This record gives sequence, structure tokens and C-alpha cells, in this order.
Amino acid sequence: MNLFDVYPLYDITPVKGDGVFVYDEAGKKYLDLYGGHAVISIGHSHPEYVEAIINQVGKLGFYSNSVKNPLQEELAEKLGRLSGCEDYALFLCNSGAEANENALKLASFHTGRSRIIYFEKGFHGRTSGAVAVTDNESIKAPFNKNHKVTKLAFDDLPALEKELQKEDVAALIFEVIRGVGGLEEASAEYYKAASEMCKKYGTILIADEVQSGYGRTGDFFGFQKYGIHPEIISIAKGMGNGFPIGGILIDEAIKPEHGILGTTFGGNHLACAAGIAVLEVIEKENLLQNAENQFEYVKEKSAEIPQIKRLYGRGLMIGLEFDFEIAALRKELLFNHKVFTGASSNKKQLRILPPLNIQKEHLDTFFEALKSALEKY
Ligand SMILES: Cc1ncc(COP(=O)(O)O)c(C=O)c1O
Repeated sequence: MNLFDVYPLYDITPVKGDGVFVYDEAGKKYLDLYGGHAVISIGHSHPEYVEAIINQVGKLGFYSNSVKNPLQEELAEKLGRLSGCEDYALFLCNSGAEANENALKLASFHTGRSRIIYFEKGFHGRTSGAVAVTDNESIKAPFNKNHKVTKLAFDDLPALEKELQKEDVAALIFEVIRGVGGLEEASAEYYKAASEMCKKYGTILIADEVQSGYGRTGDFFGFQKYGIHPEIISIAKGMGNGFPIGGILIDEAIKPEHGILGTTFGGNHLACAAGIAVLEVIEKENLLQNAENQFEYVKEKSAEIPQIKRLYGRGLMIGLEFDFEIAALRKELLFNHKVFTGASSNKKQLRILPPLNIQKEHLDTFFEALKSALEKY
């Protein structure tokens, strides 16, 4: 049987990971400034994480959500404390799209409404509702196009109020820093006013922190910089450091009811063990502070490179914008300098999403490689 060919692949086969590095079959070492698409939070194969997973699978890897699972409670308690979101409840699932799907569904149950507002350049996943609120028509099948959704420009408050006033909007879903969409943020005033407007018109605010959450921006959640209180926060990527786990944090104003959400695999024992280990390492190694510190270093180093025209993002969710399209530069960095980087919908932007335990010495390696690669430009 062949694989269903939906991914354009680089001809590289990583077989081992260690901290901020991955190794291919021939033992070649790559610096991972992509984090497997913002997934690797505490570093590849972190020893405490590996031990926690091995221990758990030796005891009990899985049982269904029809019985008590104290690991889910431990995960919720640690997540609440570390994120400062103790007044939320946690529902566990398996991926980012699934988290958003559940968030949209819950907002619709709670409000009795069905229309969703999303933003230009937003990305929320590939399942039915999540892709319907994603700004990329090429990945929506006709089946996905029947949802009631409205796309708005970022930072346009009058347009938002005009829609919310109709009082048929279940939720506004947003990425505080667009990931795939090029790392722009709306203004602080916009976030504050949009959040108040949602409350005024009975619309649920959903912060999609699938990529920006779990310390990637230097805050536990990216929206926390703006002092707003979304009713639902969706999480995945960094949550399991590669183990598939996602979830939504739900404000206490939204009441649970048996049966409205559910999943077979979500919150299983093994996933929880991985998730708990991730939180313990984030806390012990002070990775939020590291993300903030390393951003300052990236700023400093970027200023030495005249071809970098603009720096986007915060923490370790960074975009370096050049005055030329970077596809060839990315390949040069990967194949000739052994550095993984990312791209975004802004074709001139190199996206940097490393593990949160990256150190200055690794960034020095990257900037040396970048300088050398740029000699060709
Ligand atoms: C902001 C955001 N939301 C949702 C998703 C979808 O997550 P998943 O691929 O785990 O379904 C992604 C994935 O890139 C994302 O960046």
C-alpha cells in the first residue's frame, strides 16, 4: 500500500531527536528551529518526559472516559496553576483542529447560535468547522462550505460591532499572533475592545492558542499580554511535546452537561502522563523566561544582518522578514547548513519556532549559518 500523497516532502529522514537537535539515518545532525511545526516545547526526547511515558505505558496506557482518571485531574491542576487560568475547566482531546472543533461546538451549544466570526489570514485546522473558519479556500471542500461563517479584517472594530450587533454570532475565534498567517498581531486596544464587545452582545470569545500557547510567546498564553479573558482557550502543539494531545479551557460561566462533548482517545492515561511531564519541565526549567530572554537575543543578532528588514512575533514565535522570497534560502539552510526553519503565508518571512529550551549558543550557530547562506544573495 502506498501513502496517500498529500505532503510535499523534504528528502530527509530524521530518526532521532535530542534537545534542539534531530539526527537523520546517516547520523547527520540538524539544528531544529522549526520544532516540528511549533510542537516541540521542552526539547526532543527530554529524559523526564521519556521516563514518564515509559513508566505510564508499563502501568496502563489507555482506558476509556467512562471511568475515573486521576491523571486528568493532575494535568488540569498543574495547567491551571502554571497558566494562571485556575478558574477554567479542562476538556481533553487529541489535536488542535479537534480542540477548535469542540470550542466552536460548545460556543454554539451555550449561545444557541450558529454563526462564527473569524479573521483574515487565520488558521484553525482542517476538520469541518475548524477549516470553515480558516482563511484558505483551497483547503475547504464543498462539504466544509455550508457553515455560517463571516470573515473580517483584523483590527477593524466598526466591522466587528456591525456583525456582533445582529446577535446571532455564537463565537469569535482568533489567533492572538497569527501563526501560518505571518505573525502579525492586532493592537492592544482592538483586543480589549473586541473582548468587551463580545461580552456585550453575548458572543463567546475563543482564543486559539494551539500554536502561541504553552509558553511559546514568553507568556503562558499569548493573549495574556492584553489582560483579556476569553471564555474558551484551545490548546495542542506544545502541550504534549509531540505526543498527540489537545484540549480546551472553559470559563466557569459555560456549564457542562453530560454528552455534549466526548471522545474515545482524548485524555487517555499515556497522553496525560506526557502532558504532566511537559508542564513539570516547563516549570522546573523556567522555559517561559527563557523564551523571553532568547527573543531579546534574536532581536540583537537580527539587527546585525542588513538583509533582515523586519522582525515579527514574540518569545520563540518569530518571523524574520527579508526583502526577497525565502523558499530558496530555507532550502539552503536545511541542506547546506543543516538547520530546519519554517515558512508562513508571507513568502518573504522565515519562521523560527524552536524548542523553548534553546540557548544562545544554538542561536549563534543559526545566525552564522544564516550569514553564510546570505552571501549568495
Ligand atoms: C493556530 C492553529 N490552530 C489550529 C491548528 C491545527 O492543529 P492540528 O494540526 O493539531 O489539528 C494549527 C496547526 O498548525 C494552528 O497553528
